[in-house]
Parts: sequence; structure tokens; C-alpha cells
Amino acid sequence: MSTNTSQEVDLFSPYTFGPLQMRNRIVMAPLTRSRAEKGNVPSSMAVTYYRQRATAGLIITEATQASAGGQGYISTPGVHSQEQVQRWKEITDAVHEEGGLIFVQLWHVGRISHPVFRNGQQPVAPSPIAPRGVQTYTTDGFQDIPAPRALETSEIPGIVEEFRQAALNAKAAGFDGAEIHGANGYLLDQFLEDGTNQRTDQYGGSVENRARLLFEVIAAVGSVWDSDRVGVRLSPGGSFNDMCDSHPQQTFSHVVQRLADLNLAYLHLVEPPPSQGEHPVPDLSARYFRQFYPGTIIVAGGYTLERGNQVLREGFADLVAFGQLFIANPDLVERFRRNAPFNPPDRDSFYGGTDKGYVDYPALPASGA
Ligand code: FNR
Repeated sequence: MSTNTSQEVDLFSPYTFGPLQMRNRIVMAPLTRSRAEKGNVPSSMAVTYYRQRATAGLIITEATQASAGGQGYISTPGVHSQEQVQRWKEITDAVHEEGGLIFVQLWHVGRISHPVFRNGQQPVAPSPIAPRGVQTYTTDGFQDIPAPRALETSEIPGIVEEFRQAALNAKAAGFDGAEIHGANGYLLDQFLEDGTNQRTDQYGGSVENRARLLFEVIAAVGSVWDSDRVGVRLSPGGSFNDMCDSHPQQTFSHVVQRLADLNLAYLHLVEPPPSQGEHPVPDLSARYFRQFYPGTIIVAGGYTLERGNQVLREGFADLVAFGQLFIANPDLVERFRRNAPFNPPDRDSFYGGTDKGYVDYPALPASGA
């Protein structure tokens, strides 16, 4: 942090982390767009989509299955077949040609799945607890998610190995690094939080045990890449996908403190939305976690240009990720720079569909035109 921090810092300041140099501190957040082709190969449109957004200091891809069994939604890409790796190579080449950096977000959905994605097999999770009020979109439309089965202890090394193999594939595809998806109620988060983890083996009970799988996956991905090319995304206090933890501040403080010892590329925090209720909720913002994590923090969740600059100046984060703004504004960096208006996002085309709402959002005319 020290060499990269000053009173003058803003979203346009360059940033160095590990071997990587970002030309600004604006990160494109991971964004599922559900447009993969047959075999869950990223579509050829995705080459254009990511190239259009390569002026970001860093792109993090949409969540990408580490293994076929880790899928939970229709048309999400994987990084476990040769065809997928080849298309990702076209994407990383395009981003690099534009002078950008790109990390893959490695994903296993755990219980947020359906047998249609798993050759008729039940989804797997730490414990057999179905998410309440969550559906997934399949070839037959929206479907309720059935209760998962608990992974056997003996199956867990296989999951870790899937992440290691996916990291190898991603390296071959030319990515600059990998972000491990430990957020938003998917498999690794399901292990971390006690609302979804009632195991009695070494992967359940104490927070050390619940965090074991996350740290094993980090070690596996870190055996492929140096640790300074491995990032981790967490969503402390997030309720998406019916998540909860009885002591979120303790759980995530423990995890963040241990992550701080690993010399990772970054810690990516999705902040919970401001509390609407009457009861005070624990602070789970980057402001709170910064005390445990002196390394690079990316913060996400409803940020604007102004709030992004503020969090950088306060020193609670080093980089700021933008999601919906990047969907609708391929040239978001330039729009921020010029204080230009934003294209309105078309929510109907967020997930699935054609080039409409994907690669056809206009960029600003060239400056001075
Ligand atoms: C997301 N988000 C998300 N997060 C993640 O870790 N992996 C993913 O694949 C996705 N996919 C996704 C798709 C769409 C359409 C949206 C809107 C969001 C969450 C995203 O990365 C980000 O944290 C949130 O959108 C909050 O940031 P903004 O949009 O308020 O800047």
C-alpha cells in the first residue's frame, strides 16, 4: 500500500500490485452475462465485449466454472475444456492488445444448481440445506433449487484439484491471474458461513474448519501461479442466495487476517448494502476490514465516481470495481474522465440473449469531435 498511497490518489492514478501495473484504479467487476455457446465455450461476441472494456485498469471475467460439475446457470462459461481455453485465449489476447489486464473468476456454485446441469445428479454443498426462495434458470425456464447432498469428506480433495486444474488451464489461456470466487453464496462461501455449514468433520464447526476449503483452494491455485497473481472475492454480510452467518464480523475478520499473511494479488470485498432495518448491524465494510489487511483491497457494491475517489483517499481500498456501469458503458473510464453522462443499462439483456445489450452500447464520440 505504502508506495501506492497519497493524498492525491484518485481512480485515474496508476497502481502496481505484484508484477502487474494498472494504468488506473478502475476495475471491471465480474459480471455473469449467460451468453456462452455450446459446450459452455465463451461466445465469439465475448472477445468484442471484453476488448471494448479493456481500458479498465483490470478486468475480472464473469464467474467461470472450474469444472463441469460446478455449473448452476444456463450458458455460463467454463475453463475446463480445450475449446473453452482456446476462446479464452482469444479474449485475453484482445485485452492485452488494448493494453489491459484480465483475471479469470474461478467458480463452483455448490448448492445453487440443479440436476439438469449435473447429468441428473443432485447439487453438492457442505450440508444438505436447500436455499429458500432461490430459483435457477434452466433450459426449461425458472426452476426451484432442490436440496443438495453434503459432500463426503473424501470428495473434497477432488474439488480442490478441480480448481488447480482450472488455474492451469487459465494460465494456458493467457490470463494475468485468477480470482477465487469466495463470495455471493456459492460453494466456498457456503463452507465459510455457518448458516449453510453444519458439518462435523474438519471442514465444519470452528471458523478455522469452515475456512479450510477456501485456504486449500488458494494453496492449489497458488501452486500454479505465484500468490501475487491470485485474488480472493468475499461478500461479508451478503444475503444473496439465502446466506447468513451467526457471527459475520468474527468469521470474516478471521478469514481476512489469515489472507493478509499470504501475499495475494488482492482481497476483493463486496460490501453489503447499507442497513435498512432498525437494529444496528455489524460493520462489514472495507473501512472495517482494512485494519486487518494492509495489502491491496478492491471494493465493490454500488460505487460511483465520487464514492470511489473518496474510498481511495480515505485509504480503505486501493482499487474500485464497477459492475452495472461497465455493462452499459464500455468506455466507462473515459466517461468518468470527462464527467460525461452514462448510457442507461437495459436490465432485460443482463442475462442471456444476443449482441443487444451486450456489445452494442455506444462509446462516446472521440474527444474534440
Ligand atoms: C453480478 N455480480 C457478480 N459477482 C460475481 O462475483 N461474479 C459474477 O459472475 C457476477 N455476476 C453479476 C451479473 C450481473 C448482471 C450483475 C448486475 C452483478 C456482482 C457484481 O460483480 C458487483 O459486485 C455488483 O454488481 C455491485 O456492483 P455495482 O453493479 O453496484 O457496481
